[in-house]
Amino acid sequence: MRLELPARAERFGANLFYNIQKIYELDGGFELDSEFASPFHVIQQIPRERLYEIERDMVIVIPVKNERLRLLESALCGIPHDCLPIIVSNSHRDPVDRFRMEQNMVDAFCRYAKKRHIIVHQRAPELAQVFKNGGYHHLLDEEGLVHSGKAEGMLAGIALARLSGKKYVGFIDSDNYFPGAVFEYARLFSAGLSQSKSPYSMVRIQWHSKPKIVDSGLFFAKWGRVSRITNLYLNQLLSHYTGYETESLRTGNAGEHAMSMDLALLLDYSAGFSVETYHFVSLLEKFGGVLPSPYPEVMKAGTEVFQMESRNPHFHEAAKGDKHIREMIEYSLAVLYHSPICPESLKKEILRELRRSRIIGKDEEPLQPRRYPALSGIDFEAAGVSMDWQQHGNFIPA
Ligand code: GDD
Repeated sequence: MRLELPARAERFGANLFYNIQKIYELDGGFELDSEFASPFHVIQQIPRERLYEIERDMVIVIPVKNERLRLLESALCGIPHDCLPIIVSNSHRDPVDRFRMEQNMVDAFCRYAKKRHIIVHQRAPELAQVFKNGGYHHLLDEEGLVHSGKAEGMLAGIALARLSGKKYVGFIDSDNYFPGAVFEYARLFSAGLSQSKSPYSMVRIQWHSKPKIVDSGLFFAKWGRVSRITNLYLNQLLSHYTGYETESLRTGNAGEHAMSMDLALLLDYSAGFSVETYHFVSLLEKFGGVLPSPYPEVMKAGTEVFQMESRNPHFHEAAKGDKHIREMIEYSLAVLYHSPICPESLKKEILRELRRSRIIGKDEEPLQPRRYPALSGIDFEAAGVSMDWQQHGNFIPA
């Protein structure tokens, strides 16, 4: 791959947030061009061996809830062979057992492709048992099962990725029409992570565009309603502390992102669709230097967040309605609002935004999404006892 060097960055305590990196060539060529080693070059070439090295150690978690089977298949088809896909489904089991249909399709697909994979239902008692054994009860509801929600499916995916011994974990939604886009996201994850000098790294994808039909023609929209608002307030939080206005955070709602396992296990998480915005909040709270950090080793090594602009347009299942969008805005801003590092002036701005758009009432405050403490609190040795990986029906060894 040939892409811009991560040159400019915003620093916040031990966190380095790199500005958006532009991709020049998705395939950077067989030979390494020594000219790119020049300190004056602004473009870099990442050797293909390095990309494969990371992909062999990477899980791609695919959260799915009642999507068309063909879409899920399209996502699977785009995952590079060496990555281990973990499909966490919260699809209906009755009156029609959609999960069974997904499982049959995924098992058959991976048998033909000779691809190792894991597929679990989010509400399966066996999955809940992993967290019970590991002493991490936060993710379980009153029925003793893993809570519903996209974030909760992702957390289950991280725990399974850790149990399968992988070093990196990425996330790609299952409702993507183009396997080529999925493939690009996975490649950008490995390219992004390969640049890090710290064990605590993250890659977040900014979509090139989201095509829409406008006046019977195609319009390539750049910003969604939710990310426009989330990024604005995230940047305001950063500016408050640095004293310099900035626009560098562009990926506040990046559903497509990846992390080193070392970082994934240390962050706190929040529920549902606030999860991606909360990554930033957790990074700022834990390693921003405003509050005391529970992890001095991370304060020393620093964290690195790479934001990368994909080249494929993002074409996914049609928008799920105004209610969904408003809920995403409320959740994203709620995690900023309720953070102990959110200044009063920003809280006022957020309240004004949510009240003006009638997402909350005149005297209401934004809801407080459920929080999950760091997954490093799981006793993974004990957690793995109930999962017999080799015997597990849907885990096909290579
Ligand atoms: N396992 C699991 N459990 N998966 C779920 C759940 C759940 O409870 N709810 C939704 N999903 C899956 C969907 O099937 C889809 O693959 C993915 O999670 C994203 O859900 P959507 O409902 O399609 O979200 P979206 O397209 O509106 O928003 C996406 O993009 C945003 C950025 O614009 C999400 O990835 C957001 O998290 C992201 O911020």
